[in-house]
Amino acid sequence: MNNESVSAVFWLAGERAVRLLDQRALPADERYILCHEVEELAQAIENMTVRGAPAIGIAAAYGVALAAVKGGRGAVPAAMERLARTRPTAVNLFTALERMKRCFEAEPRQEGEALFKALLAEATVIHEEDIAGNRRMGAFGARLLPEEAVVMTHCNAGAIATGGHGTALGVLRSAREIGKKIVKVYADETRPLLQGARLTAWELSRDGFDVTVIAEGMAGALMSRTRIDAVIVGADRIAKNGDTANKIGTYGLSVLAKAHGVPFYVAAPWSTFDLNAATGRDIPIEERAEEEMRLLPNGVRLPEPIHVWNPAFDVTPAGNIAAIITERGVFRAPYVFE
Ligand code: MRU
Repeated sequence: MNNESVSAVFWLAGERAVRLLDQRALPADERYILCHEVEELAQAIENMTVRGAPAIGIAAAYGVALAAVKGGRGAVPAAMERLARTRPTAVNLFTALERMKRCFEAEPRQEGEALFKALLAEATVIHEEDIAGNRRMGAFGARLLPEEAVVMTHCNAGAIATGGHGTALGVLRSAREIGKKIVKVYADETRPLLQGARLTAWELSRDGFDVTVIAEGMAGALMSRTRIDAVIVGADRIAKNGDTANKIGTYGLSVLAKAHGVPFYVAAPWSTFDLNAATGRDIPIEERAEEEMRLLPNGVRLPEPIHVWNPAFDVTPAGNIAAIITERGVFRAPYVFE
């Protein structure tokens, strides 16, 4: 069985470019794009060629190194500012950029090749720390699951949303590594961009997991009729009190889990915590283009007089979360992160 999960973000040393798995094309096509310019990378984050909170942060970190290659020291501040404007909710983006900024400012006279090497080294450390953290988080999370587990998840919090291994899906991989049986994974299809149906189902079935896709409207019916041992999701930003922003639909799933007595777990690295956000109300929620909602099956388009609302994330109150699984251990309510 293949336990080496697929990767979404690479630094290509020879080309001096960022290589991204094009997640828009999955599962039909496994193709990659090369970003030679910061602007290309910024657009790839915006259009979700690369997505998932930790993967966005890692891609942006390599983007800062790319800026140094292309434009030298003078290009770096504008690159960081451009990358920070791509997506507002995933705090990992800002955590990674802050680390790159500290590295950039540590040696104010560093230029050329030396500057590029320092920035690339920092981006590589951010990437490697994410994978290592996911493995530790996975080991903590695996202990929460029964020997034979039926699990639900939402969106894609897998290897391709991170540096590797995944957060929510990393817990499943780690559980399997210690001999637990993941009997079945139900993947919410995740409207409107279908990260669950397109990405989670692809990633898990590629690794030999038994995966079943449902529309999120089916989750309540499923929980009322079938044994579900746990819901495990990722996060884009976690406030000091444990309120958690994640893909739109996560909040509804948490309410259903609570109503059916199913433990609802969030798995996320420390880079997803925003200790400046006291509660979920302080988390900015991205609103995406209406067009994503207007496109219906069979090429039908919802006409203009009909309004649509397209927030990309919602906030699950801490009270609905049975535990938050991190690389530092498992936290339970009352959550007071500092
Ligand atoms: O809009 P996306 O696809 O970037 O949203 C991703 C999610 O909501 C994930 O659950 C979250 O980023 C965690 S990824 C480990």
